[in-house]
Amino acid sequence: MTVRKIETERLIIRPINIDDAYDVFEWASDPIVNKFMPYPLHDNIHQAEEWISSLGHKNEFVFVLKSSGKVIGGGSMSYAEKYKAYELGYNLKRLYWGMGYATEASKAMIQWAYKNLGAHDFFARHANENHASRNVIIKCGFQFENYGKLEKYDGSEIFEASCYRLHIE
Ligand SMILES: CC(C)(COP(=O)(O)OP(=O)(O)OC[C@H]1O[C@@H](n2cnc3c(N)ncnc32)[C@H](O)[C@@H]1OP(=O)(O)O)[C@@H](O)C(=O)NCCC(=O)NCCS
Repeated sequence: MTVRKIETERLIIRPINIDDAYDVFEWASDPIVNKFMPYPLHDNIHQAEEWISSLGHKNEFVFVLKSSGKVIGGGSMSYAEKYKAYELGYNLKRLYWGMGYATEASKAMIQWAYKNLGAHDFFARHANENHASRNVIIKCGFQFENYGKLEKYDGSEIFEASCYRLHIE
């Protein structure tokens, strides 16, 4: 059985469940967090519940701060057929930005996928204006591949983006 609980210095990274809906709603309803994320800005908690219920067995995690037990954000590490690689994604509640948590969680999810899923190839991208996300990707060891686009699911906005790959032998 695949172990899906990851521990880092400051975080427990565990699979998301329906009881996380309020925390998801908290970040998914913040327009500043949502700016470069593809999902629609949430205006009620049911959107978060529906999204969590729709995930099935995808590797979608929440990041829990060990010191307080609070859920501070979430991330994913799911195989993307389009890129033939595991795609990294993350977002945090704004209160917890700028403290290295996204980098800590992302590095751990990559190592987890390598060890537990046999993943060797990873993909990540960020809107060019999203400097924080760029820094997380670089700090995880990704190499720039090419420019691309990042589009909201509803097509309402398209951002110029940069795409990266990481190969671990
Ligand atoms: C992107 C995001 C997850 C980064 O989380 P974070 O925990 O603040 O990131 P980290 O603290 O690990 O920062 C990584 C590096 O980027 C730097 N950084 C953080 N915010 C920055 C900003 N606004 N501009 C430039 N650099 C920034 C950090 O200083 C750090 O570098 P350092 O270690 O040399 O200081 C967070 O800003 C977020 O949730 N944004 C909204 C959702 C989103 O855009 N997700 C990614 C979509 S591609």
